[in-house]
Amino acid sequence: MTMTSDRPVRVLCIVGARPNFMKIAPLMRAFAAMPGRVDAQLVHTGQHYDEAMKDAFFRQLQIPEPDIDLEVGSGTHAQQTAEIMRRFEPVVDELSPDVVLVVGDVNSTIACALVAAKKGIAVVHVEAGLRSWDRQMPEEINRVLTDQISDLLFTTESDAADNLQREGIDADRIHFVGNVMIDTLLANRERAVPAETTLQGISGFDGDSEHFGLITLHRPSNVDDPIVLRRLIKTLAELSSNLPLVFPIHPRTQARIEEAGLSEVLAESRIALTAPLGYLDLLGLMARARLVLTDSGGLQEETTALGVPCITLRENTERPVTVEQGTNTIVGTDADKIRSVFKDTLNTGGKSGRVPELWDGHAAQRIAEILVNWVSNQVRAA
Ligand code: UD1
Repeated sequence: MTMTSDRPVRVLCIVGARPNFMKIAPLMRAFAAMPGRVDAQLVHTGQHYDEAMKDAFFRQLQIPEPDIDLEVGSGTHAQQTAEIMRRFEPVVDELSPDVVLVVGDVNSTIACALVAAKKGIAVVHVEAGLRSWDRQMPEEINRVLTDQISDLLFTTESDAADNLQREGIDADRIHFVGNVMIDTLLANRERAVPAETTLQGISGFDGDSEHFGLITLHRPSNVDDPIVLRRLIKTLAELSSNLPLVFPIHPRTQARIEEAGLSEVLAESRIALTAPLGYLDLLGLMARARLVLTDSGGLQEETTALGVPCITLRENTERPVTVEQGTNTIVGTDADKIRSVFKDTLNTGGKSGRVPELWDGHAAQRIAEILVNWVSNQVRAA
């Protein structure tokens, strides 16, 4: 790292896919509040590009327009990762940042971290150390590899540091700071679109804002396997007779449901489909839902922060604090187990939990302070 201590730290922040946007928003705000100390620029890789998957989030979360859009679009994992790397390298050469900051576990995270690390630029990983221990999950590969090549690692829950240290990462590079996704949730809670408003706009929804549940599904292990997808959709369709369900549908899930011939099952159920929702719309729905059925990592955390019961349709979670302290129950994809936990949750009101340590809305400020001090110390040590 070559810099003098009297100019701002140049931080190149990376986003690519929908869950990254919620994580970068408070960081960009925290950096903007440190003029003279930090000069932050934003690169969007273009992994997610649709209005509903990208622009709506930038607008609603008031994220500054990216300084650079690599416009990579969709592809296989190898194609997408390689294309991001190819297009990101000249950007790094031109901007010559002091650090590249990546968030989460998507393909954009590992691709940009790898480019930076090979160029000798410090990599900062926000949301480090989460492990599902399931290497079938593309995100698990991205997490393990990104952490290995990161210089500074910020964690959201206390177990994450143990995971990192077991993998040989020095404790002095790991900082437990809380959860930037929850910074965004707390900052926007009051601005959320009322559930009534969103529900009125969803055709086919026959419940009311006091009595509905929310579904999201997009993990390849659930939606790319037609047998698992059929079992899940049929079970959820059956359960919707007890509680009307709203299902904002991810583009990959939409495509797989059509390919598997499951559209009819949904049409005959009390599941109301809608296009992917904006952040403030989904937050409003989540906060009022009787329960949430999901395979999303982000929703497991958001429901814990909101105190809403979450039934996770996966065999594992990389976010165990949501189970140990929060409202999350890991159920898997077995129809009987889903039925049983669903009915129990409806009858009892579900698991009550508490908000995990440091999920207090100030993670981004902590990260910004630690990051700037760390870079200054590196400079002094050089
Ligand atoms: C990606 C992340 C996943 C994250 C999810 C959130 C990886 C490995 N996966 O999965 O961790 O939970 O984002 O949504 O990075 N598509 C569109 N419009 C878009 C983007 C995608 O229609 O704006 C369609 C394309 O057909 C594409 C498919 O969705 O092929 C999958 O997109 P991709 O970014 O490859 O993965 P996700 O499933 O979204």
